Amino acid sequence: MKIRGGIPLKGTIKTQGAKNAALPVMAVCLLLRGETLTLDNVPDLYDINTMKELLETLGIDVEVTGSTMDFHAPEELKWEAPDNLVRKMRASSLVLGPLLANCGKVSLPLPGGCSIGSRPIDLHLKGLKQMGAEIEIQNGVVHASVKGKLRGRRIYLDFPSVGATENLMMAASLAQGETIIENIAREPEIDNLAAVLRCVGVPVELEGTGGVRIQGIEKAHSGHERVIPDRIEACTYILAAVMTNGHVKVEDLVPSHIDAILAKLEESGAKFAVHQNTVEIFPSKKKLHPVSVKTMPYPGFPTDSQPQMAAALSIARGVSTIEESVFQARFLYAQELNRMGADIQISRDVAIIRGVEKLQGASVKASDLRAGAALIIAGLAAEGETTVDDMVHVWRGYEAIDKKLRSIGADVELVS
Ligand code: EPZ
Repeated sequence: MKIRGGIPLKGTIKTQGAKNAALPVMAVCLLLRGETLTLDNVPDLYDINTMKELLETLGIDVEVTGSTMDFHAPEELKWEAPDNLVRKMRASSLVLGPLLANCGKVSLPLPGGCSIGSRPIDLHLKGLKQMGAEIEIQNGVVHASVKGKLRGRRIYLDFPSVGATENLMMAASLAQGETIIENIAREPEIDNLAAVLRCVGVPVELEGTGGVRIQGIEKAHSGHERVIPDRIEACTYILAAVMTNGHVKVEDLVPSHIDAILAKLEESGAKFAVHQNTVEIFPSKKKLHPVSVKTMPYPGFPTDSQPQMAAALSIARGVSTIEESVFQARFLYAQELNRMGADIQISRDVAIIRGVEKLQGASVKASDLRAGAALIIAGLAAEGETTVDDMVHVWRGYEAIDKKLRSIGADVELVS
């Protein structure tokens, strides 16, 4: 993508359905037999297409009508996930729980790491074993099976892993008896999964103490639910408006899902107003004040907005810090921002960001999805022209980002 920076963004932009909600709730269809799951507000993204293809290889018939998807499950599912699709996307591991619960066995190549860390699934496998699964890993493939049904039980997650929470909630849906999972992830995407499980007949009770109680059922029925707005995409556009000193309304979001970011923006002096399901950013004469940020599991500051926040702080006043406590290595973008004139030094899991007057356009590379987003919003604020390469990472999570940015006045174009 080629970006000519320095233009204050102006106008209104709508948020897409959440990638990280759509991926797990699509996997719920693997709990069905001869029934249909309908999901509204599914975003049009590479990762969504990868999940659709994966479900189709497992025997699901998927019908797409705009942003609504119908998943028709056969009486008998296949239970082997192909390597080429699983290696493309870590979220493929989300088929483990539902397939094991519904078919009694599943073979899944271990998902690879990616540029933000090793990304193991040990917590997923530990929970499934506690529910009675036999698990072997041979030649990089996870072979899981259970005689009869999985058994409901009390499970404690060592870390509130989003993926482990989702896999185990889906596994518990067809298990024998009740499952209680403690120390679960509390991201809004978990509430969305609970709603979709309820719509196919699974009694799910989320407890305020960070636990969930699920009664296993005999057979799930057809259901229809909606994917929640993408809070991370929304924050990306909010930060783009702040960095370009623009006047932008970001619509179709749930403001309470981004409290941590809004609190940090308020602390740094950004000017904005929160309406029902809209955040409106106003131009402000002054640069942002420096702040210190630490990424945490929800409701803390989201790791997925960390690179974009670093871009915004790279042109704030003073010295800001960002500590990444969720992933091992999520600072690859820093060296690319420094090519644009930023002054970011990394020491272990902390980025020290010395604000500079302006960024300069440069040719940079996206190393992963959110790093790419950070470079794009940096290019929008920079003086001159920026080219962001390896946009394939960005298309995984940002629907029509070029069109959306042009609709609020950005000068961007895709070049082959
Ligand atoms: C989900 O990944 C998201 N992906 C990630 O978004 C997000 O960054 C992450 O949650 C944290 O919010 C999807 O929802 C598809 P985790 P997930 O399990 O489930 C360690 C994006 O940009 N861990 O909460 O993989 C793990 O290594 C993506 O949209 C284990 O050690 O996140 C990591 O350090 C990037 N063992 C930490 O926990 C396990 O069994 C958080 O992982 C599982 C996780």
